[in-house]
Amino acid sequence: KVLVLDFGGQYNQLIARRVRECNVYCEVKPYNMPLDKIKEFNPKGIIFTGGPNSVYGEDSPLVDKGIFELGIPVLGICYGCQFTAYSLGGEVLHAPKSEYGKTIVSVDKSSLLFKDVKSETTVWMSHTDYVSKAPEGFVITGKTSTCPVAAMENREKKIYAVQFHPEVMHSEEGMTMLRAFVYDVCGCKGDWQMADFAKTTIEAIRKKVGNGKVLCALSGGVDSSVAAVLLSKAVGEQLTCVFVDHGLLRKNEGDEVEAVFGPKGPYKLNFIRVNAQERFYAKLAGVTEPERKRKIIGEEFIRVFEDEAKKIGKVDFLVQGTIYPDVIESGLGKSATIKSHHNVGGLPSVVDFKEIIEPLRLLFKDEVRKVGLELGIPDYLVYRQPFPGPGLGIRIIGDVTAEKVKIVQEADAIYREEIAKAGVDKSCNLGQYFAALTNMRSVGVMGDGRTYDYAIALRAVQTSDFMTADWARIPYDVLDIISRRIVNEVPGVNRVLLDCTSKPPATIEFE
Ligand code: XMP
Repeated sequence: KVLVLDFGGQYNQLIARRVRECNVYCEVKPYNMPLDKIKEFNPKGIIFTGGPNSVYGEDSPLVDKGIFELGIPVLGICYGCQFTAYSLGGEVLHAPKSEYGKTIVSVDKSSLLFKDVKSETTVWMSHTDYVSKAPEGFVITGKTSTCPVAAMENREKKIYAVQFHPEVMHSEEGMTMLRAFVYDVCGCKGDWQMADFAKTTIEAIRKKVGNGKVLCALSGGVDSSVAAVLLSKAVGEQLTCVFVDHGLLRKNEGDEVEAVFGPKGPYKLNFIRVNAQERFYAKLAGVTEPERKRKIIGEEFIRVFEDEAKKIGKVDFLVQGTIYPDVIESGLGKSATIKSHHNVGGLPSVVDFKEIIEPLRLLFKDEVRKVGLELGIPDYLVYRQPFPGPGLGIRIIGDVTAEKVKIVQEADAIYREEIAKAGVDKSCNLGQYFAALTNMRSVGVMGDGRTYDYAIALRAVQTSDFMTADWARIPYDVLDIISRRIVNEVPGVNRVLLDCTSKPPATIEFE
């Protein structure tokens, strides 16, 4: 296993994730982890992350120099590189101008770290301070036009340091370097699997929970499903999952969730499905303003959950399916509120519990999916596209009624069925796609009669991070089938429109 010592940089978990991608177990710990604890942890290698400080700053994070004497290979990245130079007698200077972005570095191919990369390779830099002189015993193994020591190493002591960030995608051969560090320098075997994550996590949860009572809000989404299965495998019927069906789910979705987690499913747990459709429809009646709709759905969700929690009484632990990107996003500064997102953030205040368990806190989405597959959760749940908390409520423009929900559910089911049949989700690399009900009615002719019905809008986007998105070019012949089927099979619809706007300026959802 590898230990990542966190000096406060923004890519810390990304480094851990890259090490896991090498099939090597890895944990991130604070930079001030005491030396004896590090020895006890017994890692095969230590990586120092970057960080926002300068080694000359007043409260800069510094580590006992003894760490270099443990005989454990070290890789310092960015601040970690400067810290290594500074601690071992090199020189660190403050540059008049920060270096930020893609840079070409010339590397020494006799270094174990660089033996498999091109001698001129593109890397990502993000720093102001730089190492101007390597410490004694070190050789310089990388240079850029502005950075005299972009990489350095002490081969005998197995101390390596790079000023750039091999962990980010913009460093084109960064993964090759990290692989060389964990395999060739540290001697890791690379036999760790996500199944091991599941196993260790289940054991750790079991130990922590003892015979306590655990409560989980299950949405049927990937994150809460994987969290629930981990908990169920750890503590079985000590776990109660509450699934609120707010009547704004996709067609058959409530039953699908129940089939997996309910009493007929494969897992041991207490499953409570709350059919709260009427409550939500009543609260939403006549409300058209998007933000108000979102608030109402979010608040009602909490009220329904509160009612259930009261029946259950005091629990010891509350489970949340928080994943790593949620952790970063919630830590970000103030950006304009485009939409108020619905999440379970309000739940802790209505549940009487001792502690929160977040078993997926350190994982990225695709890693959560891998754990899900390892745990045997069905593919269709593991690979579900994102579905917003307020559900179809924000895919029905204007006021929400039971009748409109039915229309959009049926249209969306046809859309998804035909996309899957044509394999377009893969061939067009769709990140998210759904049908929405516009608030527009228009005139049509069906049979020999006039119709005055709703228009369905089809949305499909390609995106990697959901922050920006391009509208997907679904083949016309597939759109043709979808459009015909929707108009013929869904009463109340006489027109199908295609949304060909990217984000920005549009958003992915309609409200
Ligand atoms: P927008 O519409 O803002 O959506 O471009 C970006 C992504 O976020 C999802 N989304 C939500 N997810 N709660 C969620 O958990 C919400 O309230 C919410 N609103 C939007 C949306 O589906 C897309 O994937």
